[in-house]
Amino acid sequence: MQAPSKKKVIRASLLNPVSDQQVDLLPDTLLVLTPSADDTGDKIELMGNEEELASYLHPKSEYQIVDLRNYILIPGLIDLHFHWVQDAVRSAPKESLLEWLKNHTWPTEAKFADLDYSQLSAAKFSAELIKNGTMAGCCYSSIHDHTIDHIKNSFVGDFIVGTVIMTINSPDYLTQDPDEVIRVVTKRCQQLQAEYAVTPRFAPTVDPATLTAIGESAMKNGSFIQTHLAETKDEIDYVLSIFRQFPLFSDVNSYTDIYHRCKLLTPKTIMGHAIHLDESEWQLLAQTGTAIAHCPTSNAPLKELGLGSGLFNYQMADHYNIKWGLASDIGAGPHLSMFDVIRSFVEQNRRAGLNPTYTQGLFRSTLASAEIMGQKDLLGSFAPGKWANWLMLSGPNLNSKLDGEGVLSSLIGNKQQSRSDFYQLIQGRYYRGKMIG
Ligand code: GUN
Ligand code: FE
Repeated sequence: MQAPSKKKVIRASLLNPVSDQQVDLLPDTLLVLTPSADDTGDKIELMGNEEELASYLHPKSEYQIVDLRNYILIPGLIDLHFHWVQDAVRSAPKESLLEWLKNHTWPTEAKFADLDYSQLSAAKFSAELIKNGTMAGCCYSSIHDHTIDHIKNSFVGDFIVGTVIMTINSPDYLTQDPDEVIRVVTKRCQQLQAEYAVTPRFAPTVDPATLTAIGESAMKNGSFIQTHLAETKDEIDYVLSIFRQFPLFSDVNSYTDIYHRCKLLTPKTIMGHAIHLDESEWQLLAQTGTAIAHCPTSNAPLKELGLGSGLFNYQMADHYNIKWGLASDIGAGPHLSMFDVIRSFVEQNRRAGLNPTYTQGLFRSTLASAEIMGQKDLLGSFAPGKWANWLMLSGPNLNSKLDGEGVLSSLIGNKQQSRSDFYQLIQGRYYRGKMIG
């Protein structure tokens, strides 16, 4: 019989996100881990320095000491909006959103009708998530319901998932029957509740009755709602031209108003992009507690491999107290690494004359997104009661008098670090106390 494994004490330096302005750099800190009550992994029971937790380091202690003092630990990263079924179109030519969807993205997503292709792709994508240190987030699938099971069987982490819904203005091979959509969405809401997101692709591809019905299903079952909003100006013209033809929407004021009339703006709604909004739209998002997934690499100029959609106004979101987090938006976004996303967020906004920081980028890729996902007590930072999820980053030397922002900027903002090779920074990944890569 195997001896029961010892309880663990982790000893390492931590970078612990607190807010947009604060990341705590905690040298030589101990994390005491204990298995969760339901035995699904380790949680942090205690956190403190050598002096405070001396008894755990005693040679006769029942705890196994894991010495990671050569590394800096950061919490597992959270990607608030990505399309795992678009891995293959990351580098497809991007002229404009609507052309890219029609010419490249939709034909690619159609392949996921095949069970074997879907299952194999999920296993491959899971390995990429692990490599890049993404351990939670909100995930868009193709229209095919079986993909949900494949994600659930493959991904290591805490992901809210949903299949995109397309009932109108879509190619025949991706057009769904509204009654069947409502039946399947209701079943998934009941089954997965807050692990599921009702996912209308975007307003132009879903008829108003279905938009309203699936929103109701989400509300009844505590599920999330995720979709796209105001990513490009052409998209806004397109959606208004479609909806103003529907009887109840002839006087609709804005793109956001369409979702509002369908009762899709809620405290459990996450809108992707939200770049081109007028004042009334910001107010609607604020009044309804709707959150935003900001996708800087996806929105970046064409020469940076994005769609050139524009720059999200995070100051306006903050002004209205609207919650927002960072996201890769794979495959409109070319890079899966949240380090790429953070760096692009900082660089683009600095070019625009603002003063974003890496501290802010890390906060928006961890704790801020954990809160939006309703998991602030379990994910997003190091604290007693949270899951033991982290990445081990190599260097830099902590005697170099850098503060938390200095350490982050030397790791993530380092111009020598080629884009999309950020996973090399990560020397180890732990999920719920177990090494996963
Ligand atoms: N709008 C509707 N669908 C999509 C999508 O798949 N990606 C992006 N970036 N925008 C969308
Ligand atoms: Fe997207």
